[in-house]
Amino acid sequence: MPTVVFIPFKKARQIQAGATILAAANQADVPIGQSCSGDGICGWCKVTVVSGAENLAPPTKLEAKLIEEKLFERNERAACLAVVRGDVAITTSYW
Ligand code: FES
Repeated sequence: MPTVVFIPFKKARQIQAGATILAAANQADVPIGQSCSGDGICGWCKVTVVSGAENLAPPTKLEAKLIEEKLFERNERAACLAVVRGDVAITTSYW
């Protein structure tokens, strides 16, 4: 099972491949900003991928639209939409 590491918290959570970063964060009791409950609208769930970006599924059309509209940097993903396939480490600007 892939491991998601939440760097500032020194927490790691193993999750089923195919789950989102947000699901891992919820299971690890790590706070992720959100106001649309994962509908891909608000962009508050933006996280910075520190390592393992290649282990995330490519953005869906919905996430790609959000990334463009919210001006995400290249290493940023929407936690509610980014699907984990392998080990990844993340942080945010507000942790
Ligand atoms: S929670 Fe709103 S876009 Fe992810």
